[in-house]
Amino acid sequence: MAVFLFLAAIFTLVIAQLPDTSSSFNFRIRPDFASYDSPLRAIKGWDLSSYHLSPCYDYAVFTNQTGRIFYANGTAEEFSDRTSTIASDGGSPPWPWGIVVSAANATDSKGRRQVYIDCGAGTPGMSVADWPATVYYQTGTFYVCEETFLYGPAIALYWREKVDQTPEGCANVELQAWCLEDETEHEFSRKSTCYLEGDDSDD
Ligand SMILES: *[C@@H]1O[C@H](CO)[C@@H](O)[C@H](O)[C@H]1NC(C)=O
Ligand SMILES: *[C@@H]1O[C@H](CO)[C@@H](O)[C@H](O)[C@H]1NC(C)=O
Ligand SMILES: *[C@@H]1O[C@H](CO)[C@@H](O)[C@H](O)[C@H]1NC(C)=O
Repeated sequence: MAVFLFLAAIFTLVIAQLPDTSSSFNFRIRPDFASYDSPLRAIKGWDLSSYHLSPCYDYAVFTNQTGRIFYANGTAEEFSDRTSTIASDGGSPPWPWGIVVSAANATDSKGRRQVYIDCGAGTPGMSVADWPATVYYQTGTFYVCEETFLYGPAIALYWREKVDQTPEGCANVELQAWCLEDETEHEFSRKSTCYLEGDDSDD
C-alpha cells in the first residue's frame, strides 16, 4: 500500500509538469523545446502558419501572429492504420489543405525534408498522439531553422528520420496540439487530444 501511494505521488508529480489535456476537433500547433541552449527557443508557443510561396504551395513556418487552424482527418480505417492526415482549411472560399512532409527523394538544396502546407491531401501518417497531445510523423523528429526565403526571413519547419542529425544552427521541436473551442466539423475530422489554453505552467 505504502509503495503504491509513493508511486502514485511520483506519477502525479510528473503529470503536474504538463498542461491539462482535453480533446477538440480543431487545434493550433505550437513548438516546445527540449533543450535550453538554442536562441530559437524564443519561438516557444508561436503558432504554426503558412508562408505563401505560390498557388497551393506554402512553407510551414512559425509566426508570432495568429496561425492556422488544424484538424485530424481520415476515415476510421485510416485512423486505425495510422494513415490519417492533418488538414487545415485555406483559400476563399475555404477548402482543405494538408500538412506535407517532403519525401526522402524530395529534399531542399541543403538536403533537408521541409514541411509544407499544400492544398489537397496531407502526408498520410501525420497524427496527434492520444496522450500527450504531441503531433508526430513516424518515429522521426521535427526541427526548426531560421531561413531566408523569396519573400523574407522565416522560422521554417523540417522533419528528419530518427537516425539522421539535426543540422547545425537548427533546433529540435516537439509539436503540440492546443485546443480550440471552435466546434467546426469536417466530413472526415475527428477529435484530437490537445492542451488547454492558459495552463502552460512550464517556465
Ligand atoms: C513579430 O515578429 C515580427 C517579425 O519577426 C516582429 O517585427 C514583431 O516585432 C514581432 N511582434 C511581437 C509582438 O513579438
Ligand atoms: C520518390 O519516391 C517515390 C516513392 O517513395 C516515387 O513514387 C517517386 O517517383 C520518386 N520521385 C522521384 C522524383 O524520384
Ligand atoms: C481527408 O481524408 C479523406 C478521406 O481519406 C481524404 O479523401 C482527403 O484527401 C483528406 N484531406 C486532407 C486535406 O488530407
